[in-house]
This record gives sequence, C-alpha cells and structure tokens, in this order.
Amino acid sequence: MEIRPNGTQFFSQHVSTEDQNLLLEDIRARIPDAPLYTPTMPRTGKSMSVRMTNFGAAGWMSDAKGYRYQRAHPETGNPWPDIPQSILDIWTGLLPDAPLPDVCLCNYYPADAKMGLHQDRDEQDLTIPVLSISLGDTALFRLGQTTRGGKTQSFKLRSGDVMILQGTDRLAYHGIDRIYPGTSSLLKQGGRINLTLRKAL
Ligand code: SIN
Ligand code: MN
Repeated sequence: MEIRPNGTQFFSQHVSTEDQNLLLEDIRARIPDAPLYTPTMPRTGKSMSVRMTNFGAAGWMSDAKGYRYQRAHPETGNPWPDIPQSILDIWTGLLPDAPLPDVCLCNYYPADAKMGLHQDRDEQDLTIPVLSISLGDTALFRLGQTTRGGKTQSFKLRSGDVMILQGTDRLAYHGIDRIYPGTSSLLKQGGRINLTLRKAL
C-alpha cells in the first residue's frame, strides 16, 4: 500500500509468524560467521545503540572513517555470509522488476536503542528501492522529507511489517525514535531486528 504518492509503500503484517520464525532461523545460522558488532559514528567515534551485521556481497559499515560498504566483516575479516533465500524472496515478491539486492543489513535494537534521522545514500544507484523488514518488538519509525528539518510523520512498525522507500522517498530522512519492549514474543530475549535490503554495488 502506498502511504505517500510515488513514495513510501507499507505492507502491514506481510510476513506471517511462521515465515518470521523461518527468517530468524536463517539469520541465526549466519551470526556465528558474522557476529553482531557495535558500529561507531564518524567524527565523534560514539557507539551506536544498535548492533549490526550484514549478509551479501558487501556490508554497510560506520566507524571513525565514515560510512561505506565493504566486502569483509570488520572484526573477523571474512566475507559476509550469503543473503538467505527466504529474505530475497520477499524482495522479488514485492519488487519483481528491480535488480536483486546485494546487501542485507541486519540491525539488532535492544529495548533502549534508537536510530537518528538519516538518509540512505551510500549506494551507487540511488534510484533502486530500499526494502526493510521488521521482526520482534514494535518500533516507532519517523519518516521525513528529502531535506533535513522537513515535516515528519511517525508510525509504528510491527513484527512482520515491510516498508519500501522508493520514488520521491528513496532519499527521505528516516529513523527510529524508540522500541516498545514486550510487544512481541518472536525474540526470546526481546528487542527488534530490522533487515534492510539494498542494491549497493
Ligand atoms: C535504518 O534506516 O537503517 C533502519 C530502519 C529501521 O530500523 O526500521
Ligand atoms: Mn536507513
């Protein structure tokens, strides 16, 4: 469903509970090879409150050197594990005409994590949509305009929801204001996983 003309699409409860559990199995199978790490902010070097890993040909990184995609895990030096087919299937189901993604960023939000307003603009082709899948506790998502400081809208992302930023919203500022602990029983330890699929290279 389009929630902004020629822009954001939101698919409420697109992934069934059964499929959410299958996605989790595929994610958990890859974490030993690509452990979650704590990214740091460019310039300030402050730790982000989310923990991250990636699957695919490249992974998104943030540290003192800045934002970028790189082909190796920052701590192990190994290539990233492949993107699970179960996750690719969600992309091809909703975006059959788009090129296949080569990066799946996996963010884990503990109960007190958030993510500041930012644009996704480290990809080579900024016209290819970005698709994100929410798993676990509900998050308060904020979506703004393509310029910082523009009007923003907030809505809740629940486990199984899928959002696509495309068209005029491909470069819209967005972020996570808060997590609502205890709103999902999918993750035994609580918190939220967000999977973001992009074609970066
Ligand atoms: C992000 O923009 O990197 C994550 C968005 C989300 O967690 O829903
Ligand atoms: Mn983003």
